[in-house]
Amino acid sequence: MKLRVPATTTNFGSGFDAFGLALNLYNFFEVFEKDAFSVEIEGEGKNLPKDENNLVIKVYKTACERYGKSVKPFFLKQTNHVPTARGLGSSATAIVGGILIFEKLHNLNLSLEDKLRLAFEFENHPDNLLPAFVGGFVLCVGGDKLLFKKLPFPEDITLVFVVPDFELSTEKARSVIKKEVPLSDAVFNIQRSSLLVASFLTKDYDLIKFAVEDRLHQPYRSELIRGFDEVLKAGYDAGAYGVFLSGAGPTVCALSPPDEADTVGKAMKEAFEKVGVSSKVLSLKAQEEGAKWLNTPSQGS
Ligand code: HSE
Repeated sequence: MKLRVPATTTNFGSGFDAFGLALNLYNFFEVFEKDAFSVEIEGEGKNLPKDENNLVIKVYKTACERYGKSVKPFFLKQTNHVPTARGLGSSATAIVGGILIFEKLHNLNLSLEDKLRLAFEFENHPDNLLPAFVGGFVLCVGGDKLLFKKLPFPEDITLVFVVPDFELSTEKARSVIKKEVPLSDAVFNIQRSSLLVASFLTKDYDLIKFAVEDRLHQPYRSELIRGFDEVLKAGYDAGAYGVFLSGAGPTVCALSPPDEADTVGKAMKEAFEKVGVSSKVLSLKAQEEGAKWLNTPSQGS
């Protein structure tokens, strides 16, 4: 009856389009079969479409079309905790939601590869989608073949998200990135993203601040986020291991020792305030579980 899909953070600075992590923050989707589609939204994203332009319904209907199934309209109740267009994978929750609702309503058992193929029609990079489906810290490889590896994320790291009160669409945030980069920048990122994985696995967290440095996307995207450099500095000064843009932004994420998380969040929020941007702080943990049904779907009202 009720589907829970986790928020996700991606990139971790140097791992552009490659690293994704599921978080203990969720959107919930409840489905009740009806004669026509309708949507109610509680929490975040109250301005999202409540008709058939709602992303969950669009994905569901596309899935029906691709698999030759007749559409079964439903009332969808969304209870959203994931802020929209902030770099926390809210669209991915809706895409994953639409696909899993399709699978459930039509009693199918799709492979992860099949589900991703559908999902890619709506978002063509895997780093939010894969952890939303399977949970955990995922090293993703795009392309035709489904290649990914899930690694344990360090339990002794808290993720502090400072979410500014303005939206930034992924489309806009991708449009400012250069399509071609010098070899030296590509090498810079490969070296650091490899180092980041090693620093997690060996618990050598002092390496993180070097490992999250990026030359592929953050330098361009940060121009769209007033106060980004000051917020980054405030996070480091307050004791964060590493600070970077969450996904496409504008949320800034700090990896923090659990005991320092409150101080780090407060310092970063204050840095945003100093440049006139209000924000909220979410102190989160990695979630090893991906999207899941909390009980059986209701077939009636
Ligand atoms: N890796 C993607 C990006 C995630 O940074 O554009 C956002 O959906």
